[in-house]
Amino acid sequence: MGFEFPLLLNPGKSIVLNTDTAQNGHIAITGGSGAGKTRLAKELMKHLYEKGKNLHVVDVQNTLGMNGLVPEEVFDFEVRNSPYSINPFEFLLDEKNGGPLAQVDDIMEMFRKTFMKRLKSAPLMTAVLRRLIIDTYRKAGIVDSDPSTWGLDLNKKEMNEKLPIVADMKELVDYILDFVSGGYGTKFGSIVSKNGKILNEWHNQLAKLNEELRKLEEVADRDEEVAEAERLRIKGEIVDLQQHIKGNVESMVSHFKQYLEYSFLGGDVPAYEALQSDEAGYGWLDFKFYSDKDRLKVIRTIETYLQALSSAGVFGRSTPAPSFSKINRYNLSSLKDEPRLFCADTIASKIFRMLYVRGEYRSLPEGTRPFWERRPGTTTDTYLVIDEIQTLLPDTAAEARNKNLLYNRIISQIRNFGGGVMAMTQTPDNLPELFLTNIGTMIILYTAPNDLPRVKAVTGIKDNRIFQLLETRNSQGHYCVGLMKDRSGVWQCVKMPWADL
Ligand SMILES: Nc1ncnc2c1ncn2[C@@H]1O[C@H](COP(=O)(O)OP(=O)(O)OP(=O)(O)O)[C@@H](O)[C@H]1O
Ligand SMILES: [Mg+2]
Repeated sequence: MGFEFPLLLNPGKSIVLNTDTAQNGHIAITGGSGAGKTRLAKELMKHLYEKGKNLHVVDVQNTLGMNGLVPEEVFDFEVRNSPYSINPFEFLLDEKNGGPLAQVDDIMEMFRKTFMKRLKSAPLMTAVLRRLIIDTYRKAGIVDSDPSTWGLDLNKKEMNEKLPIVADMKELVDYILDFVSGGYGTKFGSIVSKNGKILNEWHNQLAKLNEELRKLEEVADRDEEVAEAERLRIKGEIVDLQQHIKGNVESMVSHFKQYLEYSFLGGDVPAYEALQSDEAGYGWLDFKFYSDKDRLKVIRTIETYLQALSSAGVFGRSTPAPSFSKINRYNLSSLKDEPRLFCADTIASKIFRMLYVRGEYRSLPEGTRPFWERRPGTTTDTYLVIDEIQTLLPDTAAEARNKNLLYNRIISQIRNFGGGVMAMTQTPDNLPELFLTNIGTMIILYTAPNDLPRVKAVTGIKDNRIFQLLETRNSQGHYCVGLMKDRSGVWQCVKMPWADL
């Protein structure tokens, strides 16, 4: 049993959307403001829920609430005291297709889509940001090249504890800024004092050797041969020691000179290797990389980004556990644009990961046990619903073509794992190419005249009358007709559930 859309011009006939048997269960709903996208999405959500699908609704505007019509588990992400948090550092524990480095790319994508739009210093920032994210994992003991550090043997709770969070990345950045700006002087002072002690000891030793030499000459009845050997030994030691002292003094002077030039004359970065220590667990950090002047400038900017994310109050470890008996609705409406996008991406990628880890849907054992078994006769058991999906996509069409883009990966791969996507947006050309080629069901609702040329381009419909029919309204004055392709690939006008024609 599917969801029926009666044909407008051919009474008695309809187009049936059957999400159980569809080889491609993805759904896109497009239309102008007030066309009924959200309304239709809710009707379909109810239908999917009643068919026993697991639903995950990324609700960026808090418009997809079901008003008690079907049971909902609502996760409200709030700026203050959010009961739920989200962690973009969670990664796929899969040696072949996962690991921290794969997640680094997804986190980079989030930064690019939010803070780094049209940024001039983007290539430099990309390099620094990438390194910072990798180092944030490293601080938590997670290194991509060494899967034994990933936590493959940990349970969910232990893994949550192990993973770094946004606050850790901010701490790392603050540490670098602190060290390089204020910290270097202090650090330099401690080097001087440490080396000063060594120099003092060497100096005392030198005095002792000279004293030994003097005493040797004072012995009255000395055996000249023995004395000469002794003299040579002591003199040799003195020369060695003097060389050590000279070298140490020279190296300190050169560090000091570098430091002064760096601090006051715009000189090169000081030799940080000499200053490295493991205090605060950052001994392995490549200070030299981070202390380059231009890089430091972008690190300061990144600090403000992390500040904005931190103050959103939703990044942490208490990630929500989804329900398998209710609609899961993640309400992100209280968040600002940037953290909202981070949250949406993190949720979408978590759902994708969940299905991926479960395994290929085709190969799951048949049964009715929630989530772990394949419902008999179905191709899909989980839907990810995203309204206003264009807000989560990159600005430029070129970027949107990237196959590695999170939503492109989801749309082209999630079907194998029993997942489907239902996405809503104003016009079909808001959707990346990969979406258009991967969507099984496209429903086009009333489209404003200035968006029509793009809709025509995507649908290939030349006849204007068909678009005029989309202006049909019901008795309450609401648009109620849409366009769908029938089985033979012909676009047809269909009636929405609220059409009372
Ligand atoms: N259950 C309902 N009963 C009656 N009217 C409704 C119902 N749900 C929505 N509407 C009305 O239907 C119209 C379409 O609303 P909807 O929110 O679905 O549009 P939309 O395509 O999502 O627009 P937007 O791009 O602005 O989000 C609106 O006028 C709305 O007030
Ligand atoms: Mg809407």
